[in-house]
Amino acid sequence: MIVTGKGGVGKTTLSVALGMRAAAEGKRTIVCEVAAQENASRMFEHTTVGFHEVELEENLWAISIDPDDSMREYVLLQLKVRAMRDMLFRSRIFNYLAAATPGLKELVTIGKIWELAQLDRKVKSGCKYDTVIVDAPATGHGVGFLQTPRTFANIARVGPIHSQAKTLDNFITDHDNTGVAIVALPEEMPVNESAALERDLVDEVGVAVDRIYLNGLYPERFSKEEAEKLVPLAAEDGAPRAAARAALSEFGRARSQRAQLARLRRRVQAPVKTLPFLFEPDLGPEAARRLSRRLS
Ligand SMILES: Nc1ncnc2c1ncn2[C@@H]1O[C@H](COP(=O)(O)OP(=O)(O)O)[C@@H](O)[C@H]1O
Ligand SMILES: [Mg+2]
Repeated sequence: MIVTGKGGVGKTTLSVALGMRAAAEGKRTIVCEVAAQENASRMFEHTTVGFHEVELEENLWAISIDPDDSMREYVLLQLKVRAMRDMLFRSRIFNYLAAATPGLKELVTIGKIWELAQLDRKVKSGCKYDTVIVDAPATGHGVGFLQTPRTFANIARVGPIHSQAKTLDNFITDHDNTGVAIVALPEEMPVNESAALERDLVDEVGVAVDRIYLNGLYPERFSKEEAEKLVPLAAEDGAPRAAARAALSEFGRARSQRAQLARLRRRVQAPVKTLPFLFEPDLGPEAARRLSRRLS
């Protein structure tokens, strides 16, 4: 399951919440952070998550996928002859090519995600997961990232790179096994961008967009009638003024968010699910758990 969307919309929070939900349903689940992003580690309390599978709680693991580590692991798995591996790692040309080839980091990252999703794991110490959740990078809306395997398959027309890139592309676009969730915010531009993202993901990448999560929805605390009664209070001098203004401001925000929710529903194909705004500083694992209870 790939969780995508722009930066700051709640992808990491939702990835962890989805992971907790799947784990609670008894699925062995791993949440993959694509490294060199902001840290998902803050969601995992004290645990430092690196390029190894860390068990967080029952049925829930996490990994931070670093492209350099993925590349190294890939080469190790590919080249059985130790002397050749050593030669390759020492080779300046190899290191130069690895750093300079556009998309190679994304390719090996997706390769690692694929590897995690295999029941016959290549990393023999790794466990067999029922669910792999990817907190996708925000760069280029995630479309470029997911298109990498196809790009490589097209460039390398034959040979192992071609066939492996093809395997990865088939894996990403396999609607029976791989799904995408888009996270959006209830504001005008993010709603437009999410609708465009869904189109691109479906038309250009060919993935299945299963769900759109509209995150951070304010509660509707006041009816329209109640809000109207607050208007004179907000204009008067006196103690209740600040409170009335705050209430009206929140009322306005909750309403405009509902309008954006309606717009989003009209513009996208996938079902839209809302997640509440949690009024607390720095959401941690417990906040993610509360959100996870609202997911299915
Ligand atoms: N439903 C929510 N309510 C309140 N704050 C949220 C909610 N979802 C995310 N946040 C906060 O918004 C910020 C961005 O969330 P994050 O999951 O890191 O987004 P992304 O991974 O898309 O960049 C974080 O500070 C997070 O705690
Ligand atoms: Mg993030």
